[in-house]
Amino acid sequence: MERTYDIEAVRKEFPALDRTHNGRPAVYLDGPGGSQMARPSIAAMLRYMEAGGANLHGAFPTSFETEEILAEAREASAAFLGARPDEIAFGANMTTLTYGISRALSREWNSNSEIVVTELDHRANVDPWIQAAEDRGAKIRWVRLDPDALTLDEEDIENAINENTKLVAVGLASNIVGTVTDVARVSEMAHAFGVLVAVDAVHAAPHIPVDRVALGADILTCSAYKFFGPHVGVAAIKGELFENLGVYKVEPAPNYSPDKLETGTQNHEGIAGVKGALDFIASLGDGETMRERLLSGMENIEEYEDALAGKLRAALRETPSVKIYSAPEGVRKTPTVAFRAEGISPREICERMAAEGYFIGDGHFYASTVVERLGLREEGVVRVGLAPYTSEEEVEGFVGSLRSGFSQEPRAKSQERSERPS
Ligand SMILES: Cc1ncc(COP(=O)(O)O)c(C=O)c1O
Repeated sequence: MERTYDIEAVRKEFPALDRTHNGRPAVYLDGPGGSQMARPSIAAMLRYMEAGGANLHGAFPTSFETEEILAEAREASAAFLGARPDEIAFGANMTTLTYGISRALSREWNSNSEIVVTELDHRANVDPWIQAAEDRGAKIRWVRLDPDALTLDEEDIENAINENTKLVAVGLASNIVGTVTDVARVSEMAHAFGVLVAVDAVHAAPHIPVDRVALGADILTCSAYKFFGPHVGVAAIKGELFENLGVYKVEPAPNYSPDKLETGTQNHEGIAGVKGALDFIASLGDGETMRERLLSGMENIEEYEDALAGKLRAALRETPSVKIYSAPEGVRKTPTVAFRAEGISPREICERMAAEGYFIGDGHFYASTVVERLGLREEGVVRVGLAPYTSEEEVEGFVGSLRSGFSQEPRAKSQERSERPS
């Protein structure tokens, strides 16, 4: 059965789209910095808080219910990432989880060890590994970014891995230029030497289907606030590795996975919201099981966003004085587009566009090595990120405003008026 993508129905699921700014509807084009929340996610959080919350392991209903809600969210997250529920751990965010995991793994490293990081990655999948390696006197190897193709140099990856390598940290998709890396191929090279692979799927998870096993990821991380949910980090760690992982934890806390990585009391209402966000994605797909519905939902999202991103890239390429930073045709990409315009700084473009109701980001977005390699560290780039709720009219309006905005004087801050949805 062919399913058409009903953009109007999708938009109704995002209450934040009712916001206006300067009398115009707010257009959210900073999804890579954090998407808007879907109604089922907001509802699940409210439900949890209104029904009476509790901590775990109690002998009373709100404690049982909390355990049940966490178990359901774990099961749904496992279905989302192609993992087992006992491989899923929640945490404050991806960065904090990665610091915890890197500290635990590096207990086994020494001065003969080597780790591999890449120039294309967000620094959250770089610095925790580098700092853990430094603590153990281990060697750090960087994989080069090809600054013209905006892809990783595959030969460099192969050369970086050897019998001393302990871990390769690689991103599935770049949060600044959208390049999707062939992580399954990287894992194949790493596993040939028995090396662990840590995959940052934070930017990929809202845009393309993810499968921990198919990617060969021993560790996979993502963040629910990028996929229409609340600020909660999610890690999927291969069962055997997780069971033997010597995490830093307090003595009375469980010593079994996944609970042992979940230090302190978790964000229960947020985790309830993770399940709600995944219910939203599943509602866009078909299938018998949650995994099938989530995969099909993500395939529909990718197809819709990819067509829209193609139009955005083409329109930006035709805009005088604009230069876009994007991998060539044929390289899989998320709908995230970076650009610069001659004679106007990224910050000024964003300010002018915000006055017109278009909310977009500028800077390096912690993918600071990428902008450094592009020679743009000082001001960074403008980043436009599409989401499942972005309409074609919004993209056309954005390009139109951008083109006319170059010739206008910016509106005074004092004239601005923002109306939050009631
Ligand atoms: C690709 C990528 N990795 C990691 C992170 C860090 O995620 P968190 O904010 O959950 O720590 C981000 C956040 O922007 C990201 O885009």
